[in-house]
Amino acid sequence: MTFAHRPKIELHMHLEGAMPPEFALELAGEKGVDLSASIEKGQYKYQGFLEFLKTYEHVTSVITTPEDYYRLTRAVLEQSAQNGVIYTESFIAPDFCGGGDVAAWRDYLAAIKQAADEMEREKGIMMRAIATVVRHFGPDVAKKIGICAQETAGDFVTGFGMGGDENVGKQGDYKFAYDMAREAGLGLTTHAGEWGGVPSILQAIDDLGVSRIGHGVQAIEDPKLVDYLIEKNITLEICPISNIVLGVYPKMQDHPISRLKEAGVKVTVSTDDPPFFHSTMNKEYSNLSDVFGWNEQDLLQIERNAIESAFCDKETKEKLFKQIEGR
Ligand code: ADE
Ligand code: ZN
Repeated sequence: MTFAHRPKIELHMHLEGAMPPEFALELAGEKGVDLSASIEKGQYKYQGFLEFLKTYEHVTSVITTPEDYYRLTRAVLEQSAQNGVIYTESFIAPDFCGGGDVAAWRDYLAAIKQAADEMEREKGIMMRAIATVVRHFGPDVAKKIGICAQETAGDFVTGFGMGGDENVGKQGDYKFAYDMAREAGLGLTTHAGEWGGVPSILQAIDDLGVSRIGHGVQAIEDPKLVDYLIEKNITLEICPISNIVLGVYPKMQDHPISRLKEAGVKVTVSTDDPPFFHSTMNKEYSNLSDVFGWNEQDLLQIERNAIESAFCDKETKEKLFKQIEGR
């Protein structure tokens, strides 16, 4: 099977984490920043999850203006469109867009949205933004991010999420920010069950009230939790290649995506941070086919799941359903 032209829906990709190393080096050159600690032979350099987060933050430090984010957004959406992605939800951290200041965040968002609008016209790819907390910056910083999200919630910023080090604190420590986002009508997701195990997923559902979970793969360790995910109709944003490269599972054959799907959990597939993991949507699809034997119907199912769980309005969903059904 070839997957290149299959229309795809992606719910979990970090805009900063999708920055190609050559793009980072170009910006670093313009600003006189030395990235040699983080990029070697044109590739991001890190070992393990915590070093990944450090490298991620180091290279993100070269994106310092709305214009930089405008260029980044265009570059990232171009690559997604090349992989057949027709709708993408992108995590964007206000911490990196003006340090959590609402006025600055608005300026960055305007630039990002301008790039997104252009790419929708040029390539037919639609983008929505998920304002994102960096967990290890702590709950007090997260409150500011909740305010940023609340102030800019609308047609473009449609979701609220949290990434970063899952082992710092508890999901419930960030309840204030999530309550603000919920009041603003935003869709809610958080990274859970990538590193924090079953308790982290339970806290995400019960303490933050999310409808989607970033990764969530460790739910497979507890059949009762698997049933709970189904009962609550929680969607998992699964990023298989990311999980293998970061060492959540030793090899793709061990990944639980197929078992979760078979059990009846609503699963979707995304790339997380493509250049860090050498993931693309086409590669994710071919792994699902080659390693787990997924066929057309299986792929259609995850695409439908993604549209149903997307943080966008009904009209957009109807448009997307038409595009995937009418191919
Ligand atoms: N931020 C970017 N990628 C992430 C991941 N895989 N886990 C947690 N935070 C992240
Ligand atoms: Zn992620």
